[in-house]
Amino acid sequence: MTQRVLLIIGGGIAAYKSLDLIRRLRERGANVRVVLTRAAQEFVTPLAAGALSNDRVFTDLFDLDDEREIGHIRLARDTDLIIVAPATADLLAKMATGQANDLATAVLLATDKPVLAAPAMNPRMWSHPATRRNVRQLEADGIAFIGPKAGEMAERGEAGIGRMAEPIEIADTATQLLTERPSSKTGPLAGRHVLVTSGPTHEPIDPVRYIANRSSGKQGHAIAAAAAAAGARVTLVSGPVTLADPPGVAIIKVQTAAEMLAAVEGALPADIAIFAAAVADWRVATTAGQKLKKTKGSAAPTLALTENPDILKGIAARSPRRPALVIGFAAETESVLAHAQKKRTAKSADWIVANDVSPATGTFGGDWNTVHLVTAEGVTSWPPQSKDEVARLLIEEAAGWLAAHQTEV
Ligand code: C5P
Repeated sequence: MTQRVLLIIGGGIAAYKSLDLIRRLRERGANVRVVLTRAAQEFVTPLAAGALSNDRVFTDLFDLDDEREIGHIRLARDTDLIIVAPATADLLAKMATGQANDLATAVLLATDKPVLAAPAMNPRMWSHPATRRNVRQLEADGIAFIGPKAGEMAERGEAGIGRMAEPIEIADTATQLLTERPSSKTGPLAGRHVLVTSGPTHEPIDPVRYIANRSSGKQGHAIAAAAAAAGARVTLVSGPVTLADPPGVAIIKVQTAAEMLAAVEGALPADIAIFAAAVADWRVATTAGQKLKKTKGSAAPTLALTENPDILKGIAARSPRRPALVIGFAAETESVLAHAQKKRTAKSADWIVANDVSPATGTFGGDWNTVHLVTAEGVTSWPPQSKDEVARLLIEEAAGWLAAHQTEV
C-alpha cells in the first residue's frame, strides 16, 4: 500500500533540506503533501515544494474561497504520518501548548496520526530550558524526534547541537515509523518480544574457507517480518544471507554457531523464541590461522570436527528465563514426521515446524514450503504455501497460544 506523508515545513534555514526530503520520501514510494508555514515561505517557495511533491501545496488555514480547499481536519486525517521538518523552536512551543492559530499547528492539533519532528535551531535555543521543557512534553505526548545533530550552524562561528538531521536519515526513520506504528499498539503481539534465528552458520576452516549449508534464511526472515507486522518487538539473529533486512526488526548479524548462541542469550528474555536457523551441527575443531596450502605430493588434510552447541536445546532447557513458547524447525529429507516428533521431546521444544527439504521439494532457497506443525497435542499438516504465508500463520498460532496462556516475561 502506498503510504501518505504530510510534511510540514517550518521557517528556518534548514527548510531547503526539506525540499530534498520530499524527493527522498517519494523515492521510497510515499505520496507526499506539503504544508508551508508563513515563515517557511521566506526560505522556500510553494512552487518549488509543489513541483517536487507533484501536488498542490497548502499554505493558509483561511483559504476557504478555493473550491479545491481541503480543510485542516482532512489534511490531519488523510495521512499515515506527519513530519515536521524543520521543527523550529517556535513550532515546538506551539505544539507543546496545543496552539492552533495557523494551518500547520491546526493540523498538528487535529491529528491522531504519528508525528515525527526533526528540530533545527540555534544551539542556544535548543538548550534553553523552555525548549527542553517543550521537547519533554512532546515526547510524553508520543511525538517521535530525530536529531538535531551537532555541527556547524548556518550563522558564522556558531557550532553545537542544532543542525537538522539529514533528509536520508529522516526518510529512513519515517519508513520505520510507517512500518512499525499501526500494529505495535494494537497488533496481536503488541508489547511482546519475539526472538528469531535465521539463515545458515559459517564455520571457518581457515581464514578463507568455511563449512556451511544451503539455508537461504527466507523462512526465518519471513517469520521475523510477520512477528513485527503483528506488533511484536523482534530480535532477528541471522547467519550470513543475501536477503534484505526485514523492516521494523532489530537484526544481529553473526557468522558462527557460537556467535549465534551468544547473540540469542544476550537478547533474552523473550516471550516467543523461534529457531529457524540451520545451525551447522559441527565446526572444525581447530581453525587454521593461515590459509591451508596444497603442497605437491602430500596427502589431503583431514578435518577433525567438534559438535556445536545446540542453541534450541539449550534455551528450551533453561530456567528461569525460558521463553514461554519455544519453537524449533526440523528440516528432514526422510521420515519427516517421525524425526520431528522425536526432536520435539529430545530438545524440549513446545512446537516443531517440520519440513521436507529433500532436493525435489525445492524448499531450500525456494519461496514455497510444505510444513507440519508438531505439538504435544498432535500434528497439523498445512497445505503447500509461500514462506510468507507459513510465517503469517505460524505467528498467528503463536499469538493465539500466548493470549490463551497469558504469560508475561
Ligand atoms: O537437530 P536439527 O539441526 O535438525 O534441529 C533443528 C532445530 O534445532 C532448528 O530449530 C534449529 O534452528 C535448531 N538448532 C539449534 N542449534 C543447533 C542445531 C539446531 O538451535 N546447533
